[in-house]
Amino acid sequence: MSGARIVWSDAEAVARGAAEAIALALRGHSSEGPFHLALSGGSTPRRTYELLAALDVPWPLLHVWFGDERCVPPDDADSNFAMARAALFDRVKLAPGAIHRMRGELADRDAAAREYERELPRRFDLMLFGVGPDGHTASLFPGAPSLEEKSRRVVAVVGNKPPPNRLTVTPPVLAAARRVLVLATGAEKAAIVRRALVDDVTAAQCPARLLRDAEWHVDAAAFRETEGKVAASAGDEKSARPTPDGAGASPLRRLSRDPGR
Ligand code: 6PG
Repeated sequence: MSGARIVWSDAEAVARGAAEAIALALRGHSSEGPFHLALSGGSTPRRTYELLAALDVPWPLLHVWFGDERCVPPDDADSNFAMARAALFDRVKLAPGAIHRMRGELADRDAAAREYERELPRRFDLMLFGVGPDGHTASLFPGAPSLEEKSRRVVAVVGNKPPPNRLTVTPPVLAAARRVLVLATGAEKAAIVRRALVDDVTAAQCPARLLRDAEWHVDAAAFRETEGKVAASAGDEKSARPTPDGAGASPLRRLSRDPGR
């Protein structure tokens, strides 16, 4: 993982930058198999999907999955699948069988988790995550036993945010992904972005800490408390090389441990 921190002007620019990064990754996908993308819930991801739907993307290559799901029917307002369907699936032509949803509506939640685990690709080409103000990511909540999971790849959990019953991928799935994008926007995320990227915390205290080496797309407000502290926490971080991160969008700056990227 690149450990890049890409700072955009506002939430709309974060969503656009992320959509363009996904489109670029899909266009550059060289393997013969499908491109496996894991989606998440949240408002910045939703806007990312809407913007992605309007881009020039080789849609037949794309297989979409979910990093987590609320245990509700697929047409419920709380369903991550319902959100992604409205924002993306209904607007583009994906290959038959390319949408892999978690069956959060099943009464036997453990069976639903095991069913998804059997289907899951060995590793994702790209996973997209948001971060909650408490530091949760996917449905890995602070203090949850799922954070200790080493063998199961999808589990049923009870979170501390409604709706509480959820299905989620586990840390080994995050660790195996080829590329992970984390989106965080707004001043209310400033403290948790700092905790995840800079502070000396455990994943149990702040699950988003697991994604410290991922590629973070943040807006200036969410990066406010992290500004100037990243280099110290990341060791050899080099700074400020504004570059286009997609087919036209330019971030305010890009902090990367690998300035050659
Ligand atoms: C959930 C949410 C959550 C979300 C973050 C960030 O199921 O609890 O979907 O995981 O991704 O809270 O959300 P925003 O992008 O809306 O800030």
